[in-house]
Amino acid sequence: MRILFIGDVYMEPGRLALEKYYARVKDNYKPQFIILNGENIANGNGVSEAIYKDLMTIGVNVITLGNHAFSRKDASSVLMYPNIIRPANYGKGAIGKEYVTLNFNGKTITVINLLGRVFMGDQIDNPFSKMDELLSKITSDYIIVDFHAEATSEKTAMAHYLDGRVDALIGTHTHVPTADACILPKGTMYITDVGMTGVRFGVIGGSTEQAVRKFLTGVPERTVPETQGPLQFNAVFLDLANKKIEKITLYE
Ligand SMILES: [Fe+2]
Ligand SMILES: [Fe+2]
Repeated sequence: MRILFIGDVYMEPGRLALEKYYARVKDNYKPQFIILNGENIANGNGVSEAIYKDLMTIGVNVITLGNHAFSRKDASSVLMYPNIIRPANYGKGAIGKEYVTLNFNGKTITVINLLGRVFMGDQIDNPFSKMDELLSKITSDYIIVDFHAEATSEKTAMAHYLDGRVDALIGTHTHVPTADACILPKGTMYITDVGMTGVRFGVIGGSTEQAVRKFLTGVPERTVPETQGPLQFNAVFLDLANKKIEKITLYE
């Protein structure tokens, strides 16, 4: 099984970067299954119905989300679509799916999205015990987890907690790619953060000028995107049969 996981696609520049690099990456790596973190793809806050349909048309199999899963007004309808999941560790009754299981060539593949708790705002359930609960009932051939979290320590601890129990744990949310793609001792493929797809020199996708001003003054402002400058595309390629994880970073 050859899987491509594309990191947080951030707003309009993210969609442009996807347009620019997607076909080339698909040609080079020939993925059979594509996962894309879309929590920032529409207006910085989730996925619109039109974008969901576009992503399905270009061959994305599963869209994962994060702390912006419920930010859009139309979230309740978008989350009803079959191939989009929100973090599993929200409480009982939260709209949307905790995970999705799809068939591929006679095998089943489950994708789970989780949200971290360290330096994150939402009052959510413990992601570690949530994984115990999910893994006690999921019997798929392959399990891939997107752990959307801020703290490297929480992500690394989760990776070791799940080592040998899932096929891959891919970190998202910080938008900054890490250089630690590896296979853990019990066989789970891991990277702390895959990085973002969008503008290359903003401040995690936001306006550089605004971010600097906010840090200088301490005065809060609603984040506006950086719209100028070159683009970047960040992903990881997972070859489950050959036990290989490869970081893909492309930029202008
Ligand atoms: Fe996030
Ligand atoms: Fe993000």
